[in-house]
Amino acid sequence: MFVKQSVYKNSARKEYDITDEKRNEYRRISKESRLAKLAAEQGLHEALHSINIPLLNPNDLMPQLDKNNISVLSLFSGGGGLDLGFDRAGYIHKASYELIPICKETLQQNRPHWTVFGGQDEGDVSKINWEQYKGQIDLIHGGPPCQPFSIAGEQKGIDDERNMWGEFNRAVNTIKPKAFAAENVLGLLNPKFENFVQKYILDELSGYKIVKFEMHASDYGVPQIRKRVFFVGFRTKKSFAKFKIPTATHSYTPLGDSQQNLTLSIFDNELIKTMGVREALGLNDIGFDNLAPTIRSGFTGKRNTTSVLNSSAGQKSWGDMGVWPNGVQMNRNKASAFPAKHDHFRLSVQDVALIQGFPENWTFAGAVYQILGQIGNSVAPPVAYQVAKNVALALTD
Ligand SMILES: C[S@@+](CC[C@H](N)C(=O)[O-])C[C@H]1O[C@@H](n2cnc3c(N)ncnc32)[C@H](O)[C@@H]1O
Repeated sequence: MFVKQSVYKNSARKEYDITDEKRNEYRRISKESRLAKLAAEQGLHEALHSINIPLLNPNDLMPQLDKNNISVLSLFSGGGGLDLGFDRAGYIHKASYELIPICKETLQQNRPHWTVFGGQDEGDVSKINWEQYKGQIDLIHGGPPCQPFSIAGEQKGIDDERNMWGEFNRAVNTIKPKAFAAENVLGLLNPKFENFVQKYILDELSGYKIVKFEMHASDYGVPQIRKRVFFVGFRTKKSFAKFKIPTATHSYTPLGDSQQNLTLSIFDNELIKTMGVREALGLNDIGFDNLAPTIRSGFTGKRNTTSVLNSSAGQKSWGDMGVWPNGVQMNRNKASAFPAKHDHFRLSVQDVALIQGFPENWTFAGAVYQILGQIGNSVAPPVAYQVAKNVALALTD
């Protein structure tokens, strides 16, 4: 029998059909999962998988560079992906601004000496008078919220009140740094947003020569399918001409793909191999490995979720790797004590952070869902590092 149910999501009313059978199945799964978790918390399970020791250390993907004396202001800082990449590339952090208070805690617990403004009162970039920074900042970086352009969202662009490009531009045009670097989702390159990009980014930042390019996280050693677009602008023609769009340092070859191996060995023989998820996390060899599907952004889909699933297609990909993408745990001990179905490996937040290119010594504040939100919203730090490194070279005489 079909029963119509109404659900309200983002205040738009949608309807879907669900059979009693399906509903009972969902209830059964949810009950089983609750009971398994309870048993794990009470220590009733033997640890199903041993605690993994990752092979990938993301710090190796971004060796710490000497201080370069380039001062940087961070807007929309989130959990610090861009901030960390620029920090590892030697920039001098001046201040970070971020609306969500828990992100401020993350930044401060990792870099207690940094100046971080967080929350509605002090972190909202739309309320800041940027005149105070004139003459003190060489570079502004930021990832203005991307939901207005994300394929996971409704792509309302300029009509979306969360579009914050205007605020990014206001900071740049007031402070007039030597350069800026802005990151966003690939959706912004959709022809649908061509006019938006011209009118609200390139035209508004007309004091800068701007280069726009795409970056793939796995080209820099991060074991994930994650593509982003960068806009990098320079005040002088000289720096603009000197800037080189980062080129791949790594390459991922699927296990057992001999044709691919051959092609890569001919063309990319200098590239370092990007690890697959299982290898990066130090899991045993099951004869199959892959890049992780894009880790979901904290602002798409269900709120307060402890899943990293971005799409139903991702489910299969995680499944093929024998990794469970739901019910991520706060640490590896908890994950190992909470067996997942089919003997799959259950992730901890440290594992998810690593798949996003965060080293273990960068820790996140908040509950699991808040941590996953910060990770899913971030720029993979090794990607930010490559941009930061090349911008620094362009700014240095
Ligand atoms: C895409 S995330 C940035 C992620 C960050 N660049 C990183 O690499 O980790 C966008 C961030 O902008 C923040 N944000 C949104 N509106 C804001 C505002 N008015 N002022 C300050 N931050 C804001 C969001 O809370 C979110 O953390």
